[in-house]
Parts: sequence; C-alpha cells; structure tokens
Amino acid sequence: MTVIVGYPGYMLADALAHRLGLEKISVFEKMFPDGEMYVRLAEHDKVRLEDVILISTLYPEQEKRFLKTLLLIDAVKNNNPRRVTAVIPYLAYSRQDRIFMPGEPVSACAIVRSIRVAGADTLVTVDVHSPRVLECFGGATINVMTSDLLVKQALRYVENPVVIAPDKGAFERASFAAKTLGLEYDYLVKQRDKVTGEITYMPREITVHNRNVVIVDDIISTGGTIAEASKVLLKHGAKSIVVVATHGLLAVNAISKLEKIGLTKIILADTLAIRHEHPLIEYVDVSERIASVLRTST
Ligand code: R5P
Repeated sequence: MTVIVGYPGYMLADALAHRLGLEKISVFEKMFPDGEMYVRLAEHDKVRLEDVILISTLYPEQEKRFLKTLLLIDAVKNNNPRRVTAVIPYLAYSRQDRIFMPGEPVSACAIVRSIRVAGADTLVTVDVHSPRVLECFGGATINVMTSDLLVKQALRYVENPVVIAPDKGAFERASFAAKTLGLEYDYLVKQRDKVTGEITYMPREITVHNRNVVIVDDIISTGGTIAEASKVLLKHGAKSIVVVATHGLLAVNAISKLEKIGLTKIILADTLAIRHEHPLIEYVDVSERIASVLRTST
C-alpha cells in the first residue's frame, strides 16, 4: 500500500501514513503564470498495481483543494494502481445536501460524484454533514465517526455532562458519543431562515439546569449556531459549556464571537489543513480512528 499526501504540511496525512506504516509519495506542484495548477507524482512508478490511499482535505481553499484532489486521483489512475481510496476528512460543500430552494444544485452530491468520476474506488469521510450524500458516490463509502473521541476529551474539563446537539441533524453524532460514554443526551430545535440565514430556536424543555453541558456539532463555520445554542443553554441554567466539533473552520470572526460566551473549551478534530492557535481551542488527533477503519477495509 502507498499513501499519497495531497498537500505538504497536512498533519493528519502524515500521522495516518505513520500509523499505517506506509510510504508517502511526494507531489511536485506549481502554478502556471495564468493561475492554473500543475501537479505531478514525484515517484509515479510506486503506485503501479498498489492499493493507493490518497488523503486530501478540502479546507481551507476549498475550490483549489477540490480541483487538486481530482487532478491527483487522475494522476494516480494514469499509473495503473490496483485500487484508489480517497480519504477526504472534510468534505467541503457538504451542507448543501439537498435542494432547499428551487434552482439550487445539490453541491455535496456534485462533489462526491466528481471524486468517483475522477477514478476513486472508495471514498472515506470523517463525520460528514449528511451521510446520505455518500450515496451519490456510486461505490464503496465509509463515514468515520469521531464524536466519541471529542466528547471523551471534553470529560477532562467537565464532570458528568449532558451531551446536547444544537439541532436535530447533529443528534446522531451527539447520541453516538453519549451512548458510547454512558452520558445523557438531548437536542435543541433550530430553525434557519433560508433567505437571511438567521437562526432561531423553537421552545423545548431542556434539562440542563445546574448541569455541565457538552455541545456536539460537525462543523463550526461562523460560530453562529454554537453561539445561539450556548445562549439558550445558559438561559436555561447550564453551569458550564464545552463545545466539541469535528471540523473547526472558524471562518470570519467566529473565534471572537465564541470567546465572548464564556465557554470552558472548544475541542476540534484535526481534520483540516489549518489549526487555530487560541487558549480556548484544543485539537484531538483522529488519525488512529481513521487508520483502524482503513486497516480493516483496504
Ligand atoms: C448545520 O446544520 C451544521 O451542522 C452546523 O451547525 C453549521 O454549519 C455551523 O455553521 P455556523 O457556525 O456558521 O453556524
């Protein structure tokens, strides 16, 4: 087996290669003066007749990384591998997982389908926003769940918390972690205005009074969802809040928004090719969870 690292400096790829004891193949890359990208497998002969794992996350610079992933898959396919497994820990555009308003694309499906068309035999994601979109791949897919690892890390900071999903979509992730660790769980009812994006919460009985809370979500982008959920929970008497999320994009002013709330900690998986250095933020290495799935499936 061989690992190809899509981007130099992507720590999760390095950790995965190390855990699997696989050789990494370096990629030569450059930009043409007109802005188009060029990639070349530096040791292309090493993928011939091999089971190749290509690990490439899609944040930051989603479009560039997506295109580069497609080009790398094509480069591998041109060298006669036995199988290609694309490990995409963060699948960009995953939240546009259906048509919310007429005329929209199902972006998540378009991305997944393109990875298949480029030549991947298997697609591995981590806590993908909507596992349903993996059906668009038309081949073998695995969604690796890591919320239990993140909540376990949260237990270093809070005793006997109740695990809360900020919306119904995150409930499976939250309940998976809570059940694994023997904790209570619940969810908030969230509504997002399709045009303005404004979030409001439907009333729901939340038993968080005087309790420590761990909020579990898949993505933190602007921080709006977590900020609102935290306010609702604090209003209902929560004693302390730790936030765990798999993909911490923390776009625009998300960090300054979240640091005003009084959170105890924000715990993120190391799925992105970016790390935010901040005293509130802590990363969990999820490479062993991905490696164990790959050991049994490839
Ligand atoms: C939404 O359904 C997702 O699971 C996340 O809750 C959402 O994408 C987070 O985005 P933001 O941080 O911008 O509220």
